[in-house]
Amino acid sequence: MKPTLTQELLLSLTADTPSISPKFFYDEIGSHLFEVITLLEEYYPTRTEKWIMDTYQSEIANAVGSCDALLDLGAGNCIKASKLFNSIKPKQYHALDISKEFLQAAVNDLQKQFPHIEMSAHAIDFSQTLAFPNLENLRKIFFFPGSSIGNYDPENADVFFSNLANQCNGNGGLLIGVDLVKDTQTLDLAYNDKLGVTAAFNLNALLYVNKLTGSNFNLANWEHHAFFNTSKSRIEMRLRALDDVKVTIPGLDSKDHVLSFKAGDLIHTENSYKYTQDHFVEKLRRAGFENIHYWTDPNNHFLVCFVNAKKIT
Ligand SMILES: C[S@@+](CC[C@H](N)C(=O)[O-])C[C@H]1O[C@@H](n2cnc3c(N)ncnc32)[C@H](O)[C@@H]1O
Repeated sequence: MKPTLTQELLLSLTADTPSISPKFFYDEIGSHLFEVITLLEEYYPTRTEKWIMDTYQSEIANAVGSCDALLDLGAGNCIKASKLFNSIKPKQYHALDISKEFLQAAVNDLQKQFPHIEMSAHAIDFSQTLAFPNLENLRKIFFFPGSSIGNYDPENADVFFSNLANQCNGNGGLLIGVDLVKDTQTLDLAYNDKLGVTAAFNLNALLYVNKLTGSNFNLANWEHHAFFNTSKSRIEMRLRALDDVKVTIPGLDSKDHVLSFKAGDLIHTENSYKYTQDHFVEKLRRAGFENIHYWTDPNNHFLVCFVNAKKIT
């Protein structure tokens, strides 16, 4: 039986390294905060990916070829996919995301703008299931922008890619954006903006956990902490306790669980892995993709790849 969200959170919060999965960033408030992050001067990934997609739009469309169904993984506000509609011309658009209400609203808006494309919104948690809409005889193109793949540990990213390659049924492909390794200052600034929006996004995970479990995390006791861990090639985002804190999480058996944190203790909330171009391309190849096309920006800050699934022989 799948654990409930309360069980899942209790387990991760009481582990040797306490953590909250980054999927708990994305209630409606978190999804809106992420939209604001993408507008920040310090947060280069969104505008750089957009620059690549705009600049190489026709090359990307040529590489992708025909697209019966575009499956947007972690679609968010669906804006990036919508920018592809005129060049890639999908017959169907399937938006998948854990943030149900935010996603449904975005797809409803988009359907009005593109009435000729068949659209559907799928509320799905990729950590629970990787069974995407089947669409058996259609040529499927998976779209996974925003460097969301960076949230996966490298081994889990390999499993995720192999699964996508299998689901392409020998004729689909994957269009993906990934953040590249760069100087530490640029990376650190991107996750520590001056307005404090990323801090609010991080802290909001505690509010969402309170909403989901009835726990009593108090934001005044926690601060945002993010830095680039060079040896692991990843941004690590955490919440740091400012005082000694006790947090109560009501149990399903009406028994309360009390978590104790000392001042300075950390709750790990996100890893965002940064790759080199060669390493990333090699991962895609190993997972069962071929005909690898890729595009980058003049600073080599971000990479967009299109890869075809190997034909089934
Ligand atoms: C970094 S944002 C990217 C949003 C958008 N694709 C973009 O590139 O701007 C990650 C997206 O993945 C969704 N997400 C996070 N964890 C998820 C999970 N476990 N299952 C499904 N969607 C998830 C979030 O709700 C969010 O919309």
